[in-house]
Amino acid sequence: MYDAPNTLGDTVDQTETKISARNVQVFYGDNHAIKDVNVDIENKSVTAFIGPSGCGKSTFLRCINRMNDTIDICRVEGDILLDGEDICDKKVDPVQLRAKVGMVFQKPNPFPKSIYDNVAYGPRIHGLAKNKADLDEIVEKSLRRGAIWNEVKDRLHAPGTGLSGGQQQRLCIARAIATEPEVLLMDEPCSALDPIATAQVEELIDELRHQYALVIVTHSMQQAARVSQKTAFFHLGNLVEYGDTSQIFTNPKDERTESYITGRIG
Ligand SMILES: Nc1ncnc2c1ncn2[C@@H]1O[C@H](COP(=O)(O)OP(=O)(O)OP(=O)(O)O)[C@@H](O)[C@H]1O
Ligand SMILES: [Mg+2]
Repeated sequence: MYDAPNTLGDTVDQTETKISARNVQVFYGDNHAIKDVNVDIENKSVTAFIGPSGCGKSTFLRCINRMNDTIDICRVEGDILLDGEDICDKKVDPVQLRAKVGMVFQKPNPFPKSIYDNVAYGPRIHGLAKNKADLDEIVEKSLRRGAIWNEVKDRLHAPGTGLSGGQQQRLCIARAIATEPEVLLMDEPCSALDPIATAQVEELIDELRHQYALVIVTHSMQQAARVSQKTAFFHLGNLVEYGDTSQIFTNPKDERTESYITGRIG
C-alpha cells in the first residue's frame, strides 16, 4: 500500500527560494531561544527541521507565519521574507498571512464542527467562494488533496472530532489547504499517529510538495530522510547545519550534527 515516497539521495531540481530568514533572533523574556538564524527555504520542496528537544524548532517555525505574535513575552527580531516581502511589515495582516502560510500542529485539532464546516471555515472567512456550489467544490477539492475524500464523502456533515486520529490530521491538512496556501508548516504532524496513518500523511506530504513549500518539524530522523529534500539541524537556538537531506544524513559537516544523527545527543 505504501512506498516510501522518497529516499536518501533523491533531489529535486527546483531551487526557487520561497522564504528567506535574515538574522532572526527570538526571545522569550530573557531566554534567547533563536540565535541569528539565516536560511533560504526552497519552493516546491520539503524542508525538515530536526534537533534536540528545546532547541527552537517550533519557535523558528512559528516565525514563518507570525504565530509568535500570539505569545505575549515573545519578541522576534530580524527579517523573514516571503517571496522577497517582509512578513513582519506593519502592512501585513497576520490573518491574511496565515491563509498563505498554513500550519498543521502536533495534535490534530479539528474545530468542533462538521467535516464540511472545518474545511469551509477558511474559504468562508476569506470570501473565496462565490456561492454554495463554489464552496462545495473547494471543500471536495481540499478533501481530495488531503487524501481523505473517499473516507468522509458520505459523512460530510458528521463532526470532524468523530474521525480517527489519522483521519483528523488529514482533515486538518485539508483545512489548511482550503485557503490555497503557498507554504505549509507542520509541527510534528505525525507524532500522535500510528504507523499506517503516519505513512498516509507522509505520502500526502510527498504529493503536496509539487505545489507548496513545506516545512516539517520532526523527531524522527527516518521521517526526515523519507520525506524531505533539505534538512536544517538546530541546536541550542542555533541553526548549526542546513543542506541537502542526503548530505546531512550521510556526510554531516558539523560535529554536533553528526552526534545528533548518530544518537549521541538529543
Ligand atoms: N510559549 C513559550 N513561552 C516561553 N518560553 C518558550 C515558549 N515556547 C518555547 N519556549 C522556550 O524556547 C526554547 C525553544 O523551545 P521550542 O518549543 O521552540 O523547542 P523545540 O525544538 O520545538 O522543542 P521540542 O522538540 O521539545 O518541541 C525553549 O527554551 C523553550 O522553553
Ligand atoms: Mg517543538
